[in-house]
Amino acid sequence: MSAELFAESPERDSRFKVRDVHAEMANFPADHPEHSVEFLHRQLNEELNSLEIAARNLVDFPDTDWDLRMAIARQCADEARHAIAFRRLMEKRGAWVGKYPVMNFQYRIITQIKSLIGRLAVANRSFEASGIDAIQDGIETQKRKDDQEFVTLFDAQLADEVQHVRFANVWIKKMIDTDGPRAVMALARAISHADAAFKVISGGTGVYYPIADDVRREAGFTEEEIRIAHSFGPAE
Ligand SMILES: [Fe+2]
Ligand SMILES: [Fe+2]
Repeated sequence: MSAELFAESPERDSRFKVRDVHAEMANFPADHPEHSVEFLHRQLNEELNSLEIAARNLVDFPDTDWDLRMAIARQCADEARHAIAFRRLMEKRGAWVGKYPVMNFQYRIITQIKSLIGRLAVANRSFEASGIDAIQDGIETQKRKDDQEFVTLFDAQLADEVQHVRFANVWIKKMIDTDGPRAVMALARAISHADAAFKVISGGTGVYYPIADDVRREAGFTEEEIRIAHSFGPAE
């Protein structure tokens, strides 16, 4: 893996089987009996990535405005709670930590970005925003299957994730107002870096969820930004 595109993986203990690319994961088809428990396992590790990224944002940018640091610190607490909730449901359904391979691509892409505005743009505004589309989609699917435990878990998580996207939207605008073209350049650099890195990870198998317009509006996206998000997904 290119050292230019990716930072080192975060530490994982010997229970974890860490993989680099999507093709090396346990990708069960949707109707496979282990599909949803593998999803819970994968999501548990993704929540850990979100926690580790937010924690690194506090450590790497100590001079940031206090109110933004507090928002990031609250995000750390939320992501830790999500990881615990996913683990609990996963274990209840018969799996255990390390049963399936995991990837740490979010942490490896985002901590390679040198600016906080770039990290917020990619982690919160892009990865987490497609996360809320995925959760919204998941809620609809699980409601159809009448899986109340899943719906309750997703509902609680969605409220937090919307907040993580929203504070990033607010602070990115503030940073652009304060720093002008320098901030815009850092943002553009981060996004093109993340695009290139994500292509390596996914091998072109990007998964798109329907854009959740109402939730995105709640998270502070403008109508224009929502329209642009639609143009990136599959033909609707
Ligand atoms: Fe989360
Ligand atoms: Fe989050």
